[in-house]
Amino acid sequence: MAVRPVLRMGDERLLRISQPVQRFDTPELHALIADMQDTMQALNGAGLAAPQIGVPLRVVIFGIEANPRYPDAEPVPQTVLINPVITPLDAAMEEGWEGCLSVPGMRGLVPRYLRLRYQGCDARGAVIDRTVENFHARVVQHECDHLDGVLYPMRILDLRNFGFTEELFPGQKIEDD
Ligand code: NI
Repeated sequence: MAVRPVLRMGDERLLRISQPVQRFDTPELHALIADMQDTMQALNGAGLAAPQIGVPLRVVIFGIEANPRYPDAEPVPQTVLINPVITPLDAAMEEGWEGCLSVPGMRGLVPRYLRLRYQGCDARGAVIDRTVENFHARVVQHECDHLDGVLYPMRILDLRNFGFTEELFPGQKIEDD
């Protein structure tokens, strides 16, 4: 298993539509997920999508323990989500600050659906079906956007709310994610 280089915004591979996983519980799929987990942990990220390490498959991982970087965020269980489908439960949206390992050193204010259902499979093909809200819902939307070639800066409504983390939040120790 290995920490893999994370592609950065500007690399056109981040703009592609990723393909569904066809076969579950294979050595190749488990190896991909192990590399994604190693990479996310090494960079202290909240989530990672396969295209961020150059693999155009519909695989995301995410999860946050109680983290001083997200003092207002509820913990999100460590999750491997494959071929995800997101269904907003209503039209309510909320803006919140996001970062991305592919956009290091920056933060932006991004509107996301507040409540949603997400469905997909884990690495063995077992069904995942959850209804979530708030920060959990935000993380899922951010990661799944990567599978459709969407990076969070594309969703910022007012680019004045986009900048370098050190300038936006002076004096705070906030790492990339
Ligand atoms: Ni990201």
